[in-house]
Amino acid sequence: ADYNTILVEQRDAVTLVTLNRPHALNALNSEVLSELIAAFTAYDDDPSQRCLVLTGSEKAFAAGADIKEMQAQGFADMYSSNFFAGWEQVTATRKPWIAAVSGYALGGGCEVAMMADFIIAGDNAKFGQPEIKLGVTPGMGGSQRLASAIGKSKAMEMCLTGRMMDAAEAERAGLVARVVPASDLVEEALKTAAQIAAMPPLAAIAVKEMVNTAEELPLEQGIRFERRLFHGLFGTEDQKEGMAAFVEKRPGNWTGR
Ligand code: HXC
Repeated sequence: ADYNTILVEQRDAVTLVTLNRPHALNALNSEVLSELIAAFTAYDDDPSQRCLVLTGSEKAFAAGADIKEMQAQGFADMYSSNFFAGWEQVTATRKPWIAAVSGYALGGGCEVAMMADFIIAGDNAKFGQPEIKLGVTPGMGGSQRLASAIGKSKAMEMCLTGRMMDAAEAERAGLVARVVPASDLVEEALKTAAQIAAMPPLAAIAVKEMVNTAEELPLEQGIRFERRLFHGLFGTEDQKEGMAAFVEKRPGNWTGR
């Protein structure tokens, strides 16, 4: 597919999606959203693709939702178009994906990074929710996901002051899985993605479903949900193959069945 605002390449079983509006520091306008929905849907539907990396440029993962696009909108415009609701199609992606963040991840940029299954950050990454300075608030899940990622106190401070958090603080706070030198960011993220892509795909989807459930269900129900999914995997060929491969001391050969 041909896109205007993103670049999409496949490296074996890994899809690399690069935000590509350098003149606007990858600000996320409606076109970016609809192209990301198309790219993520294509990824989810393509059995040859088993992990995805979303990245930006060295200077900016994304400096937010596009302020120039939102500036003139009124309440009725936002409410009737259900502005930003399309991002739920991105978070509905069932297969694993990683955000590889270099430079600014502000406002909607930080929120999109938090939609990923996890974040790998370059050591130059800067995260923030500066919307309050524009007279608004996070609107793509940031208040909820930041609070669950780093706790109430830090999330409140970030959203109330609009300050930026650097990569080291983000790692300490649990916002990012790992920090790597900015110059190696995409290669490191692709390596991690290739590791995930080599895993049995149904188990990977099950992991996503159960870890995400931790934020939605009370513990007892979450544990029951985990156990049922775990039981269910014993109905797959890949469980038979994975356990046989272990016993026979050889690598598993997955069918995704
Ligand atoms: C539209 C943006 C933009 C954005 C940057 N640009 N961020 N355009 N929307 N979010 C544009 C600038 O207007 C400028 O265009 C070009 O990108 C380069 O940006 P500069 O500001 O000149 O770069 P620099 O001085 O290096 O500063 C980088 C920056 C700053 C600190 C990241 O750009 C900045 O503060 N951006 C806004 C960050 C922000 O508030 N994000 C939250 C957005 S609201 P020109 O044409 O002048 O060259 C949001 C809402 C979510 O995400 C939900 C609530 C509704």
